[in-house]
Amino acid sequence: MNQRQKIVVLSGAGVSAESGVATFRDHNGLWENHRIEDVATPEAWRKNPALVLEFYNKRRKQLLEVQPNEAHLLIAELEKYYDVYIITQNVDDLHERAGSTKVLHLHGELKKVRSTLDENLVYHINEIDPKGWELKLGDRCAKGSQLRPHIVWFGELVPMMEEAIRITQTANIMIIIGTSLLVYPAAGLSYYLPKNASIYVIDPQKPDFLFTSPFVKFITQKATTGMKELFKELTKDFIN
Ligand code: OAD
Repeated sequence: MNQRQKIVVLSGAGVSAESGVATFRDHNGLWENHRIEDVATPEAWRKNPALVLEFYNKRRKQLLEVQPNEAHLLIAELEKYYDVYIITQNVDDLHERAGSTKVLHLHGELKKVRSTLDENLVYHINEIDPKGWELKLGDRCAKGSQLRPHIVWFGELVPMMEEAIRITQTANIMIIIGTSLLVYPAAGLSYYLPKNASIYVIDPQKPDFLFTSPFVKFITQKATTGMKELFKELTKDFIN
């Protein structure tokens, strides 16, 4: 029996845009009315932890109100035909809720919080707040230190990167969807693909994709319409 081909999906904020989650760089450099350095850096956390907590609390609360869109659902459906790995820069859980089973979060997860003393002490937000969204000053880990969002902030290491590289190195196909490819190391992941891998880039605004390969195809559309087109192409040999 033929082995199933391996697809790696590198997703960014654009895949969740049609679910109603704002992207980072489409609004004059402001992210939900904040400069990124005021809410998503270790310095911001030191200077004004209450503001940082409030910012992520709002994002977490919003996540309870949004649903996966057609793009998340079609990506999940590809698992019927391919061995699919999602490597997402998103901190939402919309890929999981759409049914994808292998999701690696490069930049952390909104629904999790962690100790400021021991980064391995990670909790689901439901363990801290039964409403499922609020983290407050004074919420502490088992070792007694303040809890913080389980997010990789700018200036912090990306601990899941090695695993992401390992997954990419044996992929046959990469789908890059809804990311401006401006943030490293995530943006450089395609450099680790095997030379003959096919790459599809779905984004209404062609990102600055510096990787040159004869196997790159740009689908200059929104995530939902772009994924419909690509899904047809990727499954045409399976569905007659
Ligand atoms: P960006 O906001 O930088 O890029 C979003 C991309 O999505 C852009 O290329 C848009 O053109 C595209 N886009 C917008 N609407 C879309 C739609 N409906 N369908 C498809 N694409 C659409 O977001 P990321 O590339 O994800 O990091 O940003 C990378 C990282 O920077 C984030 O993970 C975050 C941020 O600061 C951290 O928080 C650590």
